[in-house]
Amino acid sequence: MTDPMTLPAPMVRMEARAWWAALAAAAVLWAAAPAEGTIGVNLGTTMSHQMLPKSIVETLKDNGIKKVKLFDADDWTVSALAGSGIEVMLAIPNDQLSRMNDYDNAQEWVKENVTRYHFKGGVNIKYVAVGNEPFLKSYNGSFLHTTLPALKNIQKALDEAGVGKEIKATVPLNADVYDSPPSNPVPSGGNFRSDIRGLMVDVVKFLHANDAPFVVNIYPFLSLYANDDFPLDFAFFDGGGRAINDNDEQYTNVFDANFDTLVWSLKKSGVPNLKIVVGEIGWPTDGDKHATVDLAKRFYDGLFKKLAKNEGTPLRPGDMDVYLFGLLDEDQKSVAPGNFERHWGILYYDGKPKFPMDLTGKGNDKFWVPVKGVQYLPAQWCVFNDRAKDLKGLADNVNYACANGDCTALGYGCSCGDLDSRGNISYAFNMYFQMQDQDVMACDFDGLAKITQKNASQGSCLFPVQILSASQRTTPSGGSLSLLLATVAALMLTK
Ligand SMILES: *[C@@H]1O[C@H](CO)[C@@H](O)[C@H](O)[C@H]1NC(C)=O
Ligand SMILES: *[C@@H]1O[C@H](CO)[C@@H](O)[C@H](O)[C@H]1NC(C)=O
Ligand SMILES: *[C@@H]1O[C@H](CO)[C@@H](O)[C@H](O)[C@H]1NC(C)=O
Ligand SMILES: *[C@@H]1O[C@H](CO)[C@@H](O)[C@H](O)[C@H]1NC(C)=O
Repeated sequence: MTDPMTLPAPMVRMEARAWWAALAAAAVLWAAAPAEGTIGVNLGTTMSHQMLPKSIVETLKDNGIKKVKLFDADDWTVSALAGSGIEVMLAIPNDQLSRMNDYDNAQEWVKENVTRYHFKGGVNIKYVAVGNEPFLKSYNGSFLHTTLPALKNIQKALDEAGVGKEIKATVPLNADVYDSPPSNPVPSGGNFRSDIRGLMVDVVKFLHANDAPFVVNIYPFLSLYANDDFPLDFAFFDGGGRAINDNDEQYTNVFDANFDTLVWSLKKSGVPNLKIVVGEIGWPTDGDKHATVDLAKRFYDGLFKKLAKNEGTPLRPGDMDVYLFGLLDEDQKSVAPGNFERHWGILYYDGKPKFPMDLTGKGNDKFWVPVKGVQYLPAQWCVFNDRAKDLKGLADNVNYACANGDCTALGYGCSCGDLDSRGNISYAFNMYFQMQDQDVMACDFDGLAKITQKNASQGSCLFPVQILSASQRTTPSGGSLSLLLATVAALMLTK
């Protein structure tokens, strides 16, 4: 190589400039890396048609996601994560909490769902979520007596299995476990809900003693949904709205205010420094007038910029651990909270991205790499049969289709909110038909429906064609195979 000292001066300068540019670029990459690394994704499975777990894991890798949060410890999914290096939060569903009050069961759970995967090249388990939002007001106290004993038993079982230092038990909680009184509606007025305050103090002290984080789900969308007078701009991170002043701290968005209400609640409970992880955050794209792709994009753009700046909140500046909610739309979720519940996905039901985003917060928007290898059912739809003579059963049939299918996109301001009544009927019939895997019997509706090969979509309203569900494509042993291979690899490594 030429000695740079012998190069004509302009070229040396050029080289130096290139070098500085490269260094600066590397520094930017390096600075962005922690932010990107802290973004995880929730993997819900409440859908009629599942994707192959190994395709999901590929999608996470394709899109630079390094952490996932599950809602159970399903072997097929967990096995697919083996060897990926992706950090995992497993979960024990609420209906299993009482079972975990028996230490033997907790020990068995840890053995079967944690220790089994714990080897080099296995699954990178970091947390066990004991329950999911068990103290939610709408559960009427059903899990108040079983959650803390389950948490203690699981942590003890992790400790006794020798993994308690790396793997922590925690309880993801909804932000409704704390509040501020109407007389003092600012973060500093916050504390844990009065009906569960004693219990919450015990929970947070236990988490603190075990070096486990507080996991909280915060949804600015729900603040907006719940209150017609809520200032729209305050739900987002791009300012624009009026700031709220609290003890000289300025709050320009509801997320920060909500998060710091938790910080105050922890302070008042004697654990001011307990680590906080945001277990769920996101914005739905259908099922409500504020659940749109545009607003979801605005929300995520602001969130990613905030995370990239390591801005944190006024009381907890610095980097922040978050799990987006969620990866895919889930068409079997209860719509009790609202029709938007089935539309939280970053990806649609078929693994295609809804809008471009940039997780590094630099505004270099790109569509996510879609889930690969998705297979669709035939291109056919079930629609209202114009020739039907006897219409008296129509209302009942539409109600049946909606109750057992999914009509959440039909409401005011939703993606299919502009259909005429005939379009409405066809939409309902088609959703049911697709959910039933295009079974011809599912497109009868007393002769009111017919199958067509003509794409029934209208304008921006998509009449979907379902995908082939993972269970119809292969058996779960396919997933365990990767675990087996990882086990073999690990054995070879230790030799
Ligand atoms: C392990 O987790 C799975 C999936 O969540 C569950 O069905 C199973 O009962 C758990 N095992 C034990 C021993 O509790
Ligand atoms: C809680 O109580 C309400 C009102 O009594 C009831 O409608 C709801 O089904 C209950 N929920 C649960 C989970 O028990
Ligand atoms: C039907 O049309 C919609 C809207 O033009 C389109 O997005 C969708 O991909 C089409 N479906 C099929 C199966 O061709
Ligand atoms: C279509 O269905 C939706 C949801 O059920 C309803 O709000 C709307 O009024 C219906 N539109 C027509 C034209 O029937």
